[in-house]
This record gives sequence, structure tokens and C-alpha cells, in this order.
Amino acid sequence: KIYQASTTAPVNIAVVKYWGKRDPKLNLPTNSSVSVTLSQSDLRTHTTAACSSSFPQSDTLLLNSENQDTSGARTQACFRELRFLRSSIEAADPFLPKLSALPLKIVSENNFPTAAGLASSAAGFAALVRAIANLYELPASPTELSRIARQGSGSACRSLFGGYVAWQMGTKTDGSDSLAVEVAPASHWPTMRALILVVSAEKKGVSSTSGMQITVATSELFQRRAEVVVPKHMAEMEEAIRNKDFEKFGQVTMKESNSFHAVCLDTFPPIFYLNDVSKAAIRVVEDINKKAGKTIAAYTFDAGPNAVIYYEEENIAVVAGVVKGALGHLDGWESRDISAQEAGDLDSRAVSV
Ligand code: DP6
Repeated sequence: KIYQASTTAPVNIAVVKYWGKRDPKLNLPTNSSVSVTLSQSDLRTHTTAACSSSFPQSDTLLLNSENQDTSGARTQACFRELRFLRSSIEAADPFLPKLSALPLKIVSENNFPTAAGLASSAAGFAALVRAIANLYELPASPTELSRIARQGSGSACRSLFGGYVAWQMGTKTDGSDSLAVEVAPASHWPTMRALILVVSAEKKGVSSTSGMQITVATSELFQRRAEVVVPKHMAEMEEAIRNKDFEKFGQVTMKESNSFHAVCLDTFPPIFYLNDVSKAAIRVVEDINKKAGKTIAAYTFDAGPNAVIYYEEENIAVVAGVVKGALGHLDGWESRDISAQEAGDLDSRAVSV
């Protein structure tokens, strides 16, 4: 007999960035963060979890049809935590099949490029954890599951919710209070839109995991960011979301992205995630806001050159239209100054939140 359950998890894009770990083993962050979860139909991971006594003894994981190593500490931590929860309900109910003892077979598919700075690990681990939780019929809330997904990849804990999500850093050493909570559902601010500019679908240079480790070890600016800048941005961002105040939301989003990339530059040796196209995208957004006389568009960049531009639906023509127009122009310009491959990869799509 094969037991099986499927789920999807969406990508989330942080507007207050997670960067730095106080405990790299448990993925406990040095600061809290906030993200917007993007619509599942556009960017998501679909995962099926199955278990059976007829499967080969060891757990297996297939991502986009490629076999992945499941022996890594992060995947193992998720499997272990979920098996533990299942075995406790099995212990309480002798009629339940002993699924916790069976090997797992996980099959995942992304509908976007993996590891291109498009938060693939976030959707990936969130889907993995939820699929196994469904398979095991665990009575766990998204916040409880966020504690497990966090151990797979920090940002994954935020992808267990839709809409606007905060990851509270917590203070406990065992990580039991480092959890994701909903700030507001997507329906609270239905006019929010995001434009993704895929500047390069290449695998990124420095992974976020190792990048943030080097930052913590070498950047002094980082201290100030974690202690002063982020707490201020957290409070401002949660208020902006509650009040649906796009100007405030946009300004904090852009300052956050800039603060994070400044800390990357202050890391030694420096980490560069933004390229010339990313910088051109920043200038396009600044022009749009200048012409509008207020903030109607906000850029943000994660650990890669791709831009995400937040805007409200009513401004679709001015924002998405102008950015796409500028991209056409960039295309020619870019192929002269930047590698042709990146120019070829240039792509944009609008997604609803
Ligand atoms: C820049 O969650 O990928 O996207 O916990 O090591 O897996 P690990 O890191 P990861 O880092 C994401 C960093 C970021 C900002 C963010 O999503 O908050």
C-alpha cells in the first residue's frame, strides 16, 4: 500500500529582509522579517509526499525530475521533526498505520527557475513540510509547521501563509519562538501587485546561506542593521500594511533592500548581488515615482540580480507599462555592456499577490 498527499506552496518575497543567523543549525535569525506571498498560480512548488513499505529503505527526494541528496542536515531536520509529530499521534491511537516508520518518497516541481534568487528554497521547503504534514494527517497549524520549515530554509517559514507574513525572530535558544505569523491576509490589500524582472535565470554566485554567514562574521554595518534599522523597519512595515499605506510600504521596502545590499557590500570580501540591469531597474522605478510625485512603485532584490517591483493595480499602466518599455530599451543596451546570455534571459511577468 502506498500512502500519498500533495500540496503546493507559493514563493514569498521579503520586504523586510532576513539576513544573518544567530544559530546556523536551527536557522535562527538575527532579525525579524516580513514578506508578501505571491500568487500560487504564478510562482510555486508542487510537492507530493508518499510513503510505503514497498519503497527502497532510504528517503528519496526528486526536484524537477532530478534526484536530490536527502542526507543534508536541513532536510533531515524536517523529516525528523515531522516523523516525531506523527509518532506521537500514532502512540495515542493504536489504529493509525505506523507511517512514521516507512521510507518517504518526495516529488517536487517548480514552475520557475531554481536558485535564481527567486526564493525557490522558500517554496520548496514549505511545500515539503506541508505535503508530509498532510500525508501524516498532523493537526498542526501553519505557525507550528513554520517552526519545522524554518529548519529547512529560513525564508520557507513565511511561505506557509498567504498574504503578508512576519517571521518573528524569537529569543529562545531552542528556536521554539522563532515562528511565522500572519500580518494580514492577501484579501486585506487586494490591489497589491508584483512585477518580477528576471534579469538572469543563472544560478546565483554566493548562496544566501554562506553569504549571510560571512556578513555576520565580517560586517560592522550589519550590527547596526540588526539592532537599529530592522526593528524600526519592522514597526513601520507592519503599520503600513495594516493601513494599506502604499507610500510608506514602498519606501520601507526600497530602504530595506538598499540596507541589505549595503550590508552585502560591507561584507569582506564584498558580495555583489545587483548587476547593471538591476541598477537600471532601480532608476526606472525612481523615475516613475518622481513623475507621479509620490511612491507608486517599489523595488526589492534578494540574493540575486532579479528585481521584484511592488505596485497597486490602478497604476499598472504607469508601472508595469513603463518598466516593460524600459526593458525593451535595456535589452539592446545590455547586450553591449553585459553578457549576452543575461540579455537573452531577460523576461518579465506580472503576478497577483
Ligand atoms: C535575501 O532563506 O534562502 O532572500 O535560511 O540559509 O536557507 P537559509 O537562507 P534563505 O535566505 C533568504 C534571504 C533573502 C531575504 C529574505 O527572504 O528574507
